[in-house]
Amino acid sequence: MTVTLIPQEIIRRKRDGEILSQDDIGRFVEGITDGRVADSQISAFAMAVFFNGMSPDEGAALTLAMRDSGDVINWVNLGFEAGAPIVDKHSTGGVGDKVSLMLAPIVAACGGLVPMISGRGLGHSGGTLDKFESIPGYDPYPSINRFAKIVKTVGCSIIGQTGELAPADRRFYAVRDVTATVESIPLITASILSKKLSAGLNSLVMDVKFGSGAFMSTHVQAKQLAQNIVRVANAAGTPTTALLTDMNQVLGRTAGNAVEVVETIEFLTNPSLADKRLVDVTIALAAYMLVMSGVEQSVEKATVKATQALENGSAAEIFEKMVAAQGGGNNILSTYSSKLSVAPVDYVIECAEDGYVSSMDTRAVGMAVVEMGGGRTDPTAKIDHAVGLTHICQIGDRVTVGAPLARVRVHDEASAEVAAAAVKSAITVSNEMPKVLPVVSEIIEV
Ligand code: URA
Repeated sequence: MTVTLIPQEIIRRKRDGEILSQDDIGRFVEGITDGRVADSQISAFAMAVFFNGMSPDEGAALTLAMRDSGDVINWVNLGFEAGAPIVDKHSTGGVGDKVSLMLAPIVAACGGLVPMISGRGLGHSGGTLDKFESIPGYDPYPSINRFAKIVKTVGCSIIGQTGELAPADRRFYAVRDVTATVESIPLITASILSKKLSAGLNSLVMDVKFGSGAFMSTHVQAKQLAQNIVRVANAAGTPTTALLTDMNQVLGRTAGNAVEVVETIEFLTNPSLADKRLVDVTIALAAYMLVMSGVEQSVEKATVKATQALENGSAAEIFEKMVAAQGGGNNILSTYSSKLSVAPVDYVIECAEDGYVSSMDTRAVGMAVVEMGGGRTDPTAKIDHAVGLTHICQIGDRVTVGAPLARVRVHDEASAEVAAAAVKSAITVSNEMPKVLPVVSEIIEV
């Protein structure tokens, strides 16, 4: 006998603090996917979960039901060996977070296979897909067969979320976004993991960010989220570790789209000059991906291997091959300065006092990029890939009057002045050298 779905009964039980069964959750998610559950009911359910939370079993059931709402990639059917080191990283997002662009090639250069499904920027934080789209011709939506072929031949491929993977999340997330129900640990966990697990990964590393540039502003909240994600993902059969990383300042020296691709290429081709925090977080994530996927046995050995792949240029070569395989042209490492379009006005934001950069409202810096046109506040809006910030200072930098705090790349002086004022007021300079925290603060394992 088929059990009828009565959404309001499931919502009522969650509202009253009852524990829902796997069946209740499965039926509700089916209703989200096929349209039998209305937006108003999704919204009420999300608010009930927001206030009452979910038990570990409920959270796992929600994640799996959302994963199974669409296709789940089966890599064995696509010609990969069972147990192949198919591994991905997911970041909860932050300003200047370009790590995926260099990380996937580093891990691939060490023998991992990285089918990375990434997203677009929303709010103050940028998106990997938008960054890649600043490379003319780059195709972020190859067919699944082409995606698999690139992973097999190159070692990594970075694409966008296709319509067939976790469709329940797309609808659920859109409703949460406009009903103040995003910040719920079980809902975030199910949303992120349903998408990641539908990619059929054999292991996953999470970069859970905290601080003024992340959407979990405190370390405590980020840690709770990381612990929940690690628990649910492992229970669902995907070995997962999380790194808690600091987003109280921009990651790297650029924020935008084309400017971040330029920083990535310079990072890969000239790593001795790369930003140290960006190197540290990238190598740490790479090392955990190599260990989680079984390519290396210890974090120490994996760290050495990942560093070598960066320093000997093999990761750079893989980046170039991946871009070529996805339509972005053959020689991106030597042609990027003419291929990538960066806005012509280069405006220096000058420091008004002597001292040390002591704090940064990183969200405000991200919003300055959005206001220049480099990000979107509406998921369907078009962005300007050419604008952004470069040479961004870091906490602990010694500065003097007139020294550059950052440079703005825009199309006209008036926009440069608006952006410069916003960035300047987001950066605090004081007399005392601040305590500079390491970028990776904690590792969360099962
Ligand atoms: N990112 C997601 O994909 N989902 C959330 O719920 C929050 C951040």
